[in-house]
Amino acid sequence: MKRILITSAIPYVAGVKHLGNLVGSMLPADIFARYCRSRGYDTLAICATDEHGAPVELAALEEGTPVAEYAAKWHGVQKDLGDRFALDWDNFGRSSSPQNHELTLHFARQLWKNGFLEIRVTKQAYSPTDKRFLPDRYVIGTCPHCGYDRARGDQCENCTRVLDPIDLINPRSAVSGAADIEIRDSTHLFLKQSQFSDRLRSWIDSHKNDWPSLVTSIAYKWLDEGLQDRGITRDLEWGIPVPDDIADGQLKGKVFYVWFDAPIEYIAATKEWADKNNKGDAWKDWWYGEAANDVTYWEFMGKDNVPFHTVGFPVSIMASGEPWKLVDRLKGFNWLNYDGGKFSSSGKRGIFMDAALEVAPADYWRYYLIANAPEGSDSNFTWEQFAGIINKDLADVLGNFVNRVTKFCVARFDGQVPGEGEYGDEEKALIAELDKRIAQYANYMENAEFRKAMGEMRAIWVAGNEYMTKAAPWTHIKTDRARAAVGVRVGLNLIHQFAHLLWPIMPSFAKTIHECIQPVGYRGGIIPFPSEGMATLLDDLTHGQPIKAPEILIAKITDEQIAEWKSRFGGSDAAAQ
Ligand code: 2FM
Ligand code: ZN
Repeated sequence: MKRILITSAIPYVAGVKHLGNLVGSMLPADIFARYCRSRGYDTLAICATDEHGAPVELAALEEGTPVAEYAAKWHGVQKDLGDRFALDWDNFGRSSSPQNHELTLHFARQLWKNGFLEIRVTKQAYSPTDKRFLPDRYVIGTCPHCGYDRARGDQCENCTRVLDPIDLINPRSAVSGAADIEIRDSTHLFLKQSQFSDRLRSWIDSHKNDWPSLVTSIAYKWLDEGLQDRGITRDLEWGIPVPDDIADGQLKGKVFYVWFDAPIEYIAATKEWADKNNKGDAWKDWWYGEAANDVTYWEFMGKDNVPFHTVGFPVSIMASGEPWKLVDRLKGFNWLNYDGGKFSSSGKRGIFMDAALEVAPADYWRYYLIANAPEGSDSNFTWEQFAGIINKDLADVLGNFVNRVTKFCVARFDGQVPGEGEYGDEEKALIAELDKRIAQYANYMENAEFRKAMGEMRAIWVAGNEYMTKAAPWTHIKTDRARAAVGVRVGLNLIHQFAHLLWPIMPSFAKTIHECIQPVGYRGGIIPFPSEGMATLLDDLTHGQPIKAPEILIAKITDEQIAEWKSRFGGSDAAAQ
């Protein structure tokens, strides 16, 4: 049996995530995981909150809450929102967990023992006003590469380049805004990344054909610019403290850099899963040595995270000298923009996960977002486009099909699957088309090519509609009941198969229609991928078995609603540049 390990980039615990974060990592990871489960693959899907580092300390400071309390609270909020979006992780962990402390120290000790860590005295930004060092995002200023004037000290959000706070032009403190920034000495641990250039390059070469070019081009850009050794400790209080046995106690009072411990949390969250479920060492079988050889490991993330997963984390693994699993398939995403501008957490611009659920059910968002996932290039959210897709694909094509067929069956066939009539040429043509399209859909899903997969899914619904227009049981019922029965029987079986195909994308909708059509034998949970050809499955429902017509499935979005949401969320008129 295939074994598939899936991780989503772990969102910073600070605050509610926006739809750009959702579509760039968590949603595709969940849809892919559900697809794998629907195929019967042995699947483990892992996510967590990323709880350390400057972003979280800063957010806690702003909220006036002690940071540990802050992290626990927002972890809870994110977990709940994930549940409401039907993100079905095997574990949604916390990078502040004891398991991550333990594993991060394990890695750090291995790196130290293997001679890949070096103690260096570095120049750090220090603010006399704030009486503290200002690592990473604690400094804001102008990006020396692209000129963006709100670049953070760790990374420029605009050009994705990784920065050092002291590189910024016109630096100021993110805590107080003070511009009196001095450069002071501070001792830190450096990981000798530069020694891994060749190994990384040949590893990335080996993935030229199975990673998106977005990902390999970012990775090569880094390698071509020459890998720098990387500081893996910080002058912060919140984080995983550097133990005395590393660097002979010279790093007392410092913590590991958040980007050092965050990816290790993928492994630690797997251990959290095993610990919670009394599975002992089962976590290791997904990650370590021979036991994990048959595992295909998939990572999902936005493009800003790609450098840390093609260079940072792999170097930690290589330098450990231990057989931890490296990523096999790295699925990176471009940005989803909001109405021509950026989604922004700090600027509170765009649609956030909690507010999204106030305007539309999770399934609408899941479908819309994945069908428009920013795969080949950035994509742009507008309310008109959202409404257009929901109204057309979901209401007109899919929902209408389900309603028409089930209502007609209730009205004219006593709400039972009619057994009369034989399938003829029209049905055979439909079966052949569906077999082809479903195989193609599966092929795209196996490779996490979501837009193409969704295009195929839509084509499957359209084929069903076109068939039904031709079969027209509502016309034939007057003259040829058996012929009408064939149309209805095919229609009901189609709806049943739609539910099976759609479950990874729209689990709640799929469950609703599945319960109406095939209430027998389904006990909740996975609705598996169609296991046979359509010649069998389009006449799979028992003749005479009862079905129900669901209540209106997809309510159309009105122009009034669009106008209201635009003014609430800041539509094109209010769009920031
Ligand atoms: O960009 C982010 O939101 C980071 N918290 C992602 C971390 S992914 C991984 F390395 F853990
Ligand atoms: Zn920049």
